[in-house]
Amino acid sequence: MTVYDNGPLLVRGDFEIHTQDGAVVDRNRATMALCRCGRSAIAPLCDGNHKLGHRGAEKHLG
Ligand code: FES
Repeated sequence: MTVYDNGPLLVRGDFEIHTQDGAVVDRNRATMALCRCGRSAIAPLCDGNHKLGHRGAEKHLG
């Protein structure tokens, strides 16, 4: 697994991803990108929305 600054976790190798209720997440690629910013519309997978800004880096105005 590789952690990318302000981006996803890239997971390679032999693994399965399960939702919290036990369902297996379809795996259609050798490398999977797991969202860790909370912005993905296809969670738990990354859809690139982390580029809008990582939640941990958000600035709160007002
Ligand atoms: S890490 Fe890419 S959308 Fe969340």
